[in-house]
Amino acid sequence: MNLTELNLELSGLSPRDILKRALDTHEHIALSFSGAEDVVLVHMLSKLTQSPQVFTLDTGRLHPETYRFIDQLRNHYNLPIELYSPQAEPLQTLVREKGLFSFYQDGHQECCGIRKIEPLERALSGLDAWITGQRKDQSPSTRAEVPNVQRDDRFTGRAEHLYKYNPLANWTSAEVWNYIRMMEIPFNSLHERGFISIGCEPCTRPVLPGQHEREGRWWWEEATQKECGLHAGGKPGALPFTG
Ligand code: ADX
Ligand code: SF4
Repeated sequence: MNLTELNLELSGLSPRDILKRALDTHEHIALSFSGAEDVVLVHMLSKLTQSPQVFTLDTGRLHPETYRFIDQLRNHYNLPIELYSPQAEPLQTLVREKGLFSFYQDGHQECCGIRKIEPLERALSGLDAWITGQRKDQSPSTRAEVPNVQRDDRFTGRAEHLYKYNPLANWTSAEVWNYIRMMEIPFNSLHERGFISIGCEPCTRPVLPGQHEREGRWWWEEATQKECGLHAGGKPGALPFTG
């Protein structure tokens, strides 16, 4: 089966069934949890398996509410969420040379590279597949084509391909929130204060009525730049799925 055929099949399944399919296919698979609406995947995963693997990239700049939420989930689902921190040396060099808010001057890529991408690569190194909460409706500029499953080609020289699943790709924000309410899933208290998309504290702000959720992220940059690189390795192409 190739990825195009698989995506066609998965597009007819619910997020829960896509997750189940991913768990059945890959032995080493983990959910990358941001501390926001992707909590629906934590909930689904915790119902599907006895030992869900969940990690969060602890950039050191998350909101206090997000840290509390992560710990709340840890207790609620009895779930050991793995936190990946940035490496001390490059971080200290960045802060020494450019201060704590250099991203407002020269863009978020350098800080995200140290605080998110390198830790993500460590988190992914032992996995066959990872799961994200990306949705098409999160960003018309950059996520309109997000498939349910894609090959992640960020690493070269691996014996087996790495796959990335986006079970919520075709869900809207309204569907996510209906599910959160219906299943009485705990949610990040920032959502009660106008935050929709939630990332690091200095790079996230609430949006006004009528604004797109992505306008609250890296608001000083162009819409097409509003990606930190976490999802840069995805290839939605039709290469053989050997999972
Ligand atoms: S981002 O690339 O702009 O930061 P976004 O906040 O939309 O991403 O979240 C999309 C998905 O990326 C999340 O559902 C999650 O799977 C993953 N993600 C984003 N931030 C983190 C994080 N700090 N830790 C783990 N996963 C994350
Ligand atoms: Fe740094 Fe902002 Fe990227 Fe967080 S979102 S890693 S604070 S640039």
